[in-house]
Amino acid sequence: MVTIHNLTKSYGRFRALNNLNLHIDQGDIFGFVGPNGAGKTTTMRIICGLLQADWGEVYIDGVDALMHNDMIKRKVGYVPDFFGVYDNFKVMEYMEFYGSMYDLNGETLHKTILGLLDLVNLSDKQDAYVDGLSRGMKQRLCVARALIHNPKLLILDEPASGLDPRARFEMKEVLKNLGAMGKTIIISSHILPELGEMCNSIGVMEKGNLVASGKVEEITRRSRHSNPLTIRVLDNKDTAIQILKQTPWVEKISIRDDSIIIAFSGDDEEMSQLLSALVTGGVKVSNFHREPGNLETLFLEITGGAKDAR
Ligand SMILES: Nc1ncnc2c1ncn2[C@@H]1O[C@H](COP(=O)(O)OP(=O)(O)OP(=O)(O)O)[C@@H](O)[C@H]1O
Ligand SMILES: [Mg+2]
Repeated sequence: MVTIHNLTKSYGRFRALNNLNLHIDQGDIFGFVGPNGAGKTTTMRIICGLLQADWGEVYIDGVDALMHNDMIKRKVGYVPDFFGVYDNFKVMEYMEFYGSMYDLNGETLHKTILGLLDLVNLSDKQDAYVDGLSRGMKQRLCVARALIHNPKLLILDEPASGLDPRARFEMKEVLKNLGAMGKTIIISSHILPELGEMCNSIGVMEKGNLVASGKVEEITRRSRHSNPLTIRVLDNKDTAIQILKQTPWVEKISIRDDSIIIAFSGDDEEMSQLLSALVTGGVKVSNFHREPGNLETLFLEITGGAKDAR
């Protein structure tokens, strides 16, 4: 759905994006994570056609986005990181105003707006003033506005920032529903666990470079495999250690109380082989587990690694 090749952007002499390459599949909920100044907003604004790149290529749904700005605006909905001020605008008027920008009007527009307000859980706020809405409601209204022309791709810059836990939860629900409707979604955040819950794929940016990207499932699996394996045995600890020493994927063995803790490089299949070798060898195993994968640990490893390399 989105393919980016060698995207580069400088502000004066400062290079904000450095040969960025990225691919996002149709229907993906892609999380863009990185610290302040990493280049997330810059990338998102270029994808939407709001900012010009210095060079590189961006394809959205097969269309060259840097060449066909008008076509892209119809395919993309954008929720910026700042919400403007809308004095004396009521929710319905606000939505009608944005609809008119896409030549939508009349009964069709009215029906679309009602559907969208329902989707973002603001049906009861049609006649409320926009400036009087809470921050979380404004964020959701902004999502509804960005969907008015039924775009295939929705780009949200920090949609959950500044929201309380309840409002975050509601925002997540809205995004989940959009994902279920088959939209491709790009979301940015500094907070990795939050993205892990919402997204099926992520890209980690640092100082204008993409330092890691992939499917969340694959990344957590990789991170899980670097966690130690804990084995609790009721007896025959020496036999257990003998068996472990003969197992190729066991890299380090340590003992804590009645548990044996090992660094194990094998996958799930090899874990199950190890367990059956222990049981067949006469060891009574009462617990055998690996800590679950943790995106945040992996993120720290990746960004720590990038810093070390510099
Ligand atoms: N209009 C501008 N003029 C000069 N420098 C800019 C401009 N916009 C962004 N930058 C710089 O480009 C870099 C990337 O900024 P960008 O806003 O894309 O980062 P970000 O990842 O969205 O950060 P944040 O998490 O703070 O939103 C930063 O160092 C920023 O200072
Ligand atoms: Mg930003």
